[in-house]
Amino acid sequence: MRQKVAAGNWKMNMTPSQTSAFINELAPKVADACNTVIVCPTAVCLPAAVSAAKGTNIKVGAQNMYFEDKGAFTGEISADMLLDLGVSYVILGHSERRQYFAETDETVNKKVLKAFEKGLIPIICVGESLEQREQGITADLVRMQVKIALMGVSAEQAKTAIIAYEPIWAIGTGKTATTEQAEEVCKTIRECVCELYGSDAAEAITIQYGGSVNAKNSAELFAQPDIDGGLVGGASLKAEDFSVIANS
Ligand code: 13P
Repeated sequence: MRQKVAAGNWKMNMTPSQTSAFINELAPKVADACNTVIVCPTAVCLPAAVSAAKGTNIKVGAQNMYFEDKGAFTGEISADMLLDLGVSYVILGHSERRQYFAETDETVNKKVLKAFEKGLIPIICVGESLEQREQGITADLVRMQVKIALMGVSAEQAKTAIIAYEPIWAIGTGKTATTEQAEEVCKTIRECVCELYGSDAAEAITIQYGGSVNAKNSAELFAQPDIDGGLVGGASLKAEDFSVIANS
């Protein structure tokens, strides 16, 4: 049985002091969570998050990193910097980064390779726009995103990866994909991983759904055979709601 993973993507919300207070509030509520619980604050909040999460079952992830080790890359953050802080996960290729910060499948792939090289677990985001869904190319597009993101990744590494299927039209809109739509694409992703790496890797890899996941719909979504938890935006900013999701 794969463990379900509930990850909160805080996006550009919360200050370092709010981060500590939030994790102190969240920790007792998720102490017995059946799911793996991850919070992903902004880079400047990571030290506060790691410190507050110490001694709890809450794990900490970053929202992005750069694929070079170090050097003249103003404003960027390396894998070593995250590891030195005690961060263990990193979200890569979120649609907001693709849309506003010119991330491409190729840069996502470079970051995924660097994350694995250094020992960070990538949470790789894929998903279609409304226009692409209406054109009927969701499966083709998501398969291509997955294949490019995993180029050069070994089967052993793929087993430990997390892929988050996040339809862009369901992000922050309150418009969740139906359970059937979410399961269908997550299943497609698992089949794609099976084609690339075989059934062991396909069975082991974690595939999340993201897009307006909340305390009311998480249990049904997470009960699907190919949905191994969720990548949660808005609802992860409320300790009560996120704890319900983490316990789903
Ligand atoms: P919402 O849960 O706010 O729709 O955001 C989803 C998301 O983008 C998580 O990465």
